[in-house]
Amino acid sequence: MPYYRAVGRIPHKRHTQFRRSDGGLYAEELMGTEGFSSEAALLYHEGLPTAIVDAQDWAMPTAVILPNHPLKPRHFTTHKLDAGSADAVTGRQLLLANRDVRISYAVVDAPSPLYRNAIGDECVYVESGEAVVETVFGALMVGQGDYVVLPTSTTHRWVPDGEARLFIVEAAGHIAPPARYLTKRGQFNEFSPYCERDLRGPAEPLIVPGEDVEVLVRHRSGGTRFVYARHPFDVVGWDGCLYPYALNIADFEPITGRVHQPPPVHQTFAGPNFVICSFVPRKFDYHPLSIPAPYNHANVDSDEVIFYVGGDFMSRKGAGIELGSVSLHPNGFTHGPQPGSVEASIGKEATDEWAVMVDTFRPLELGEAALACEDTSYAWTWSGRRNGGPDSTTG
Ligand SMILES: [Fe+2]
Repeated sequence: MPYYRAVGRIPHKRHTQFRRSDGGLYAEELMGTEGFSSEAALLYHEGLPTAIVDAQDWAMPTAVILPNHPLKPRHFTTHKLDAGSADAVTGRQLLLANRDVRISYAVVDAPSPLYRNAIGDECVYVESGEAVVETVFGALMVGQGDYVVLPTSTTHRWVPDGEARLFIVEAAGHIAPPARYLTKRGQFNEFSPYCERDLRGPAEPLIVPGEDVEVLVRHRSGGTRFVYARHPFDVVGWDGCLYPYALNIADFEPITGRVHQPPPVHQTFAGPNFVICSFVPRKFDYHPLSIPAPYNHANVDSDEVIFYVGGDFMSRKGAGIELGSVSLHPNGFTHGPQPGSVEASIGKEATDEWAVMVDTFRPLELGEAALACEDTSYAWTWSGRRNGGPDSTTG
C-alpha cells in the first residue's frame, strides 16, 4: 500500500523516547515487508507486543482438494452452501486453491476469534451484510461491495452486524494496486480507475483492555493458538504505508472504449501469481458495429474465476449463473459467451453487471465446498449436449 497515513499519537521522530503518562516507554513495533526494504508501519503499543504466555497447536480444518481433472469449466452455486452459525475465520469454506492463493466463501453471523494470517495478505470481498473489522491499526466499518485488504500478520477480528457473506482471497504474498496505476513515487496516476480518495483506512486507534487474550495465527508450518499477556489492541498511534484498508467496488471507475476492452482494464489488485478484477455497471462499446459481448478466449497462462455479485451477467445467459455463482474457466479450455449472447448484446447500450474476477497463473484445484455446490451441467451449456460419460444424467 503506497499511501502514507498517520493515526493517533506518535512521536515527532521515529525510534526516539515516547512515554506514557506513567513515565514508562511505549513499545515501538516496526511492521515491515520485504525485510526492512519495503512498505512498513511503526506502531506504538502500551504494552509489549512480544509478551506471550502460551502457544498451542491450532488444528485448522483440513479441506479436501482435488485437481480439476478431467479438465472442465465449472460452476459453483455458493448460496447453496450451509449458512449455519459461523465466523469469518473458522467458518471459511474452501472453494479453490493452489500454491499462490486460496479462495473461500463464508456466511457469518458471529464475531471471529482474534486472528492473523502470517502467510500472506487477505482480500475479503463483502458480498452482502455489514461488519466491523477490528485491527491493531483501528477499526474499519465495511459493507456490501467492499474489498477489505488485510496485510500479512495484521491481528484482527471480524464482528458482523447480522449475517454477512464473504468471498475470501488469501494470498501467499502481498496484494496491492497494480504497479501501472502508480507513479514511480507511489501516487495513483490519472490512468488508474481508483485513487487515494477511494481508500478507507482506520481513522483512530482502537484500545481494548484485557489479559490472557487468545490469538489464532495461520503460519507457514500450520496453525498456532497464542495467548498474549494483554490484549493486542493496545496501539495508541501508528504511521506508515502498511495498514488495512477498504475499497468499495462502486468506487471503481470503469474504462470503456469503442470496441470491447480486455479484462486488464478491470484490474483492481495484483498479488503474487494472480490478479483481482472488478466488473461494474458501464456503458457498452460505441463503435457503430461493435459487439459488446466478449469474444471467445483462451487465456493460455491462467485459470479464471468469476464471482457473480449483482445485476444481469449478459454473457452467461442460459448457463444457470445466479447471484453468488462462481465460475471457473481453466487454462486448457477456450471459453466464451453462452450461445445467443453475442447477437443479443448488439445494440445494447449499457450493462448493470457486478462481478469479481480472480485470474491465477497456476492451475486451481477444487475444495470440498466447491464440490458440494457444483452445478455439474455447466460444462455442456455451450453445446447444449452431453454424450455419455459418468455424469451424463446431470445434464
Ligand atoms: Fe474470460
